[in-house]
Amino acid sequence: MQNQTPFLGFWQDLPKPLVGLAPMDGVTDVVCRTLVARHGKPDVMFTEFTHVEGLIRASQRLLQDFEYTEMERPVVAQIYGHKPEFFYLATHIVCELGFDGVDINMGCPAKKVVSKNCGAGLIRVPELAQEIVRQTRQAILDWTAGQTLMDIGLPNKLIRLIKEANARRGVTAPQRQQIPYSVKTRLGYDSCIIEEWVQTLLEEKPAVITIHGRTLKQMYKGEADWEAIARAAEIIHQTDTLVFGNGDVTTLQGAAEKIISSGVDGGLLGRVAIGMPWIFENKTLLREFVNKARTEVVPIAEKSPLQRLQISLEHADLLQKLRGDRIYPALKRHLSGYLSGFPGAAVLRRQAMLTQNFEELRAQLLPFTQLEEHDVA
Ligand SMILES: Cc1cc2nc3c(=O)[nH]c(=O)nc-3n(C[C@H](O)[C@H](O)[C@H](O)COP(=O)(O)O)c2cc1C
Repeated sequence: MQNQTPFLGFWQDLPKPLVGLAPMDGVTDVVCRTLVARHGKPDVMFTEFTHVEGLIRASQRLLQDFEYTEMERPVVAQIYGHKPEFFYLATHIVCELGFDGVDINMGCPAKKVVSKNCGAGLIRVPELAQEIVRQTRQAILDWTAGQTLMDIGLPNKLIRLIKEANARRGVTAPQRQQIPYSVKTRLGYDSCIIEEWVQTLLEEKPAVITIHGRTLKQMYKGEADWEAIARAAEIIHQTDTLVFGNGDVTTLQGAAEKIISSGVDGGLLGRVAIGMPWIFENKTLLREFVNKARTEVVPIAEKSPLQRLQISLEHADLLQKLRGDRIYPALKRHLSGYLSGFPGAAVLRRQAMLTQNFEELRAQLLPFTQLEEHDVA
């Protein structure tokens, strides 16, 4: 195992530096990713993190996290947990569902996640983290070699739900192609140990290591440390594994500069994409800037207030269609992003936050979409 090179799969074919949508629980669901895919598609997207054990036991609800549409590809399923045997089972599901890759979350700082050695808690137990990666890799190899969901003893009900999810995308029998595995992590637990930590991860030959430039203890406080990411990138570049940086990117120009200064192969953008799914539209300009084929600043594609309102309603329509009326509160986080950054946005946003359902929101916003552009602003 030690001498193997990582299997890069689709990652190899993506243009570099790449720009992807970071996984965000409660945010980057199939609806959000579809909007992002429609309005300026990033090079890669990730699902929300999904608990491996919950997936096997609770199935239906958690399988929703793994819904995706073909236009999102390449799309990577992110999983988390602390029991290697459940990573083995869950990875079979990821493969069977036809994802382009599987990503292991070793970065979530939430107390209830970390207390069970899940997410960033795994940084404290490196042997367990490595065993989890090994089980994930073994599952990919066994599934590729023909092992079925029945062979590994998954309940019939879960197998049926997976078949139904595939059928919704027009797939009857998934192609047994090997997929790459990757890890998304942080700089350390309570202090930055990233140089040591990436060496541990590299022993398991992931295709990609994504580093959010904060420790677990920092949660989201302070600034992401891209210098630490750069030090890790130097180590990772001595292998065939790719490295992506993440944290605090708020503009495409900022992303370009961070990518250049840290030497990473790409960057994942998270919070900035909430209510701004078009942030990825100028990714080719970003690449040209980083690769020195362009010297002008990389702008974020402009959207008028009217276009912002239209896209927010498009988001609402798709959310209601795919997830039903009860999901409405989940839209609020996106609305606060859409309804900002233009004159009069604060008033609209405050009113939108008071709405209770899709109909109220449409009643509030639709009249504005029938006005001329300058009236909206
Ligand atoms: C609401 C929210 C949910 C998140 N959920 C996940 C997750 O499911 N998996 C993960 O790896 N990171 C998750 N993250 C972390 C982000 O992927 C990213 O690392 C972090 O937000 C820093 O990047 P940013 O500054 O570009 O937002 C989440 C972040 C936020 C704000």
